[in-house]
Amino acid sequence: MGGKAKSSRSRRDSKPANKTGAKKPARSHRPNKRAIGSGLKESSARWLRRQASDPFVRAAKAQGYRSRSAFKLSEIDDRFKIFARGRAVVDLGAAPGGWSQVAAERVAANTVKGGSVLAVDLSPLDPIPGVTVVCMDVESDAVVDNIRRMAPGGVDAVISDMAPPATGHRETDHVRTVALADAALALALGVLKPGGAFVAKVTQGGSGKELLVALQRRFGAVRHFKPKASRKESPETYVVAIGLKPPN
Ligand SMILES: C[S@@+](CC[C@H](N)C(=O)[O-])C[C@H]1O[C@@H](n2cnc3c(N)ncnc32)[C@H](O)[C@@H]1O
Repeated sequence: MGGKAKSSRSRRDSKPANKTGAKKPARSHRPNKRAIGSGLKESSARWLRRQASDPFVRAAKAQGYRSRSAFKLSEIDDRFKIFARGRAVVDLGAAPGGWSQVAAERVAANTVKGGSVLAVDLSPLDPIPGVTVVCMDVESDAVVDNIRRMAPGGVDAVISDMAPPATGHRETDHVRTVALADAALALALGVLKPGGAFVAKVTQGGSGKELLVALQRRFGAVRHFKPKASRKESPETYVVAIGLKPPN
């Protein structure tokens, strides 16, 4: 291996890069602020620079997670213990799959006596061992029946990281995020077993009050939690509800 790398490097070094005979400069593997930004809209360039220096992005890559969001769910579970071996989980807004990977690990979905994870998203996901993928709109009428058919005994946790496409208009994004959390709760109440847990992405402030009241009525405990992996400047936070009460 060492020999090969050496020989390709020496070939490159010995080759003039242009007709003047000047050699190409050695390539740097460090992210180059200007190179990343060149030719891109400033907002995209800023996003790329932030990704390149984000420790959670680097950790996700190193540990094989598909998104840095995986660490948000790990923190939520470390704190609230919603997963255990053998549990059944529905992951809403699952693509590209970081949360499903964490859930699958923690319920041991890929083992004989392990649990199960059903990943639902508008977009398709690449396969994850132990995870069943359903490509559907969570706001569609058919989704609850579909999940009931696939998990007739009910599920132990419904988790939602659903987010609408960002408009850049804070209030619009907020209203849409809360609407998705409402849809996630409606679904959860149709498929969760008594004692089950619910997690959803919401945004800080404003019109999430109805959701909170509904959660407090139906669950034993309700908390807001902003994981360290959630960027400080992001308005997102998570609502975690534990212990679904049996219907009256
Ligand atoms: C922030 S991403 C989720 C990241 C994911 N938790 C992970 O760890 O990889 C939000 C996802 O919500 C999905 N989504 C938004 N609205 C949806 C809807 N109505 N039904 C299903 N999925 C939806 C989007 O397609 C997107 O993939």
